[in-house]
Amino acid sequence: MSDPSRPPAVGVLDQGTDLAFPPGFLWGAATAAYQIEGAATEGGRTRSIWDTFSHTEGRTVGGHTGDVACDHFHRMPEDVRLMAELGLKSYRFSVSWPRVQPGGSGAANAEGLDFYRRLVDELLGHGIEPWLTLYHWDLPQPLEDAGGWPARDTAGRFADYTQLVADALGDRVRYWTTLNEPWCSAFLGYGSGAHAPGRTDGADAVRAGHHLMLGHGLAVQALRASRPAAQLGITLNLYPVTPASDSAADANAARRIDALANRFFLDPVLRGSYPTDLQADLASVTDFGHVRDGDLETISTPLDLVGINYYSRHVVAAPVEGEQPEEYWRAPTCWPGSEDVRFVTRGVPVTDMDWEIDAPGLVETLDRVHREYTDLPLYVTENGSAFVDVVVDGQVDDADRLAYFDSHLRSAHAAIGAGVPLRGYFAWSLMDNFEWAWGYTKRFGMVYVDYDSQIRIPKASARWYAEVIRRNGLAAE
Ligand code: FCB
Repeated sequence: MSDPSRPPAVGVLDQGTDLAFPPGFLWGAATAAYQIEGAATEGGRTRSIWDTFSHTEGRTVGGHTGDVACDHFHRMPEDVRLMAELGLKSYRFSVSWPRVQPGGSGAANAEGLDFYRRLVDELLGHGIEPWLTLYHWDLPQPLEDAGGWPARDTAGRFADYTQLVADALGDRVRYWTTLNEPWCSAFLGYGSGAHAPGRTDGADAVRAGHHLMLGHGLAVQALRASRPAAQLGITLNLYPVTPASDSAADANAARRIDALANRFFLDPVLRGSYPTDLQADLASVTDFGHVRDGDLETISTPLDLVGINYYSRHVVAAPVEGEQPEEYWRAPTCWPGSEDVRFVTRGVPVTDMDWEIDAPGLVETLDRVHREYTDLPLYVTENGSAFVDVVVDGQVDDADRLAYFDSHLRSAHAAIGAGVPLRGYFAWSLMDNFEWAWGYTKRFGMVYVDYDSQIRIPKASARWYAEVIRRNGLAAE
């Protein structure tokens, strides 16, 4: 009999009792530049739309900004050591555009690039695979002043910026994500206004979505030309969309939201076309006149992988005459042309974001992308949950977050068992950070951050995750 108090040797699983992941499964954690770096005015960095937005009264909870955040810019080596202690195989970070190309055009800022060079070298020195996201929402403010993502030219600027980063870091970074969650950039940034730059125009949101994808395609072409060995992908935030009942009207509401949330991006990127039902639904908003010949070919430039961020499910119902739909995130709407669809809560347990916890939805999402869209390797590039954390005797026992990770990893395992080529999983997030419009009031980290002292405390979920990585699997129960 084995001694149950002794952990199994590294790489050895308890026979028959564990859910083993495939060898080489890429276990990681993710962050984003504006959410953790701070040093907002140092090293030649200039303003992004998130600096402007967070410094505008009433835009973020408590007027919180990313000026200091986790001070990662100054504490990077210490943070990488922490990642190494957790045994991370990979770290997904984003490059701050206004740090490496202040103003969003022209020459690179050597000091800015140098920070990422040091970060990547530090990661490689600890045997951690760097995974670089080019755009996690921090558009340089001058580009917004010139029209932002609704303006076509921004796509070209993004490709130029990509070239600068490829030239500087392409020799040591293998995995590249062009955009993180273009749905949020387009529909929260230009539709509902809940995110920077805070504009509220449905047609602009649709245009922004198109130009984001155009920028993605141009960036893939630039990277492919200069770094042929790189693994290139995009990260989409996808949701299973379920009708609240089996009525035809609710099914139609689900079809409409699925088109806006998922197929708006999946179809152009992976099939080279916009869904016809989406175009019909948006007829009162836009005639798609902003789509030029050749755009969809550029947008669907072949990729090496697809990144999926998964958090929750949307359950929706048809409009009820005379009844206002519940306000969703922030009026007027992030669902142009489908403002009247009602989002239904089912009364199942939620996180501190009020997002319903739905682990089976991860299997559905992965399976759908694989079955309907692509044989490419898939990666969960974000998954996680906010809960209220309490520090007791210097420890954080985040049982809820741990359970969330555990249930979703079981789903990831089930998806692999069902034939989905899932190759890696990144927890959101490595550490607590600036949660956009929610400021520092929502904690997603596996590592607790005390924002006064900048002390980091690995939570119980972090220690648990380290053990999952070490075993390359989960205990059966
Ligand atoms: C995703 C974002 C990430 C973080 C998590 C909670 O939409 O990509 O930056 O805010 O949600």
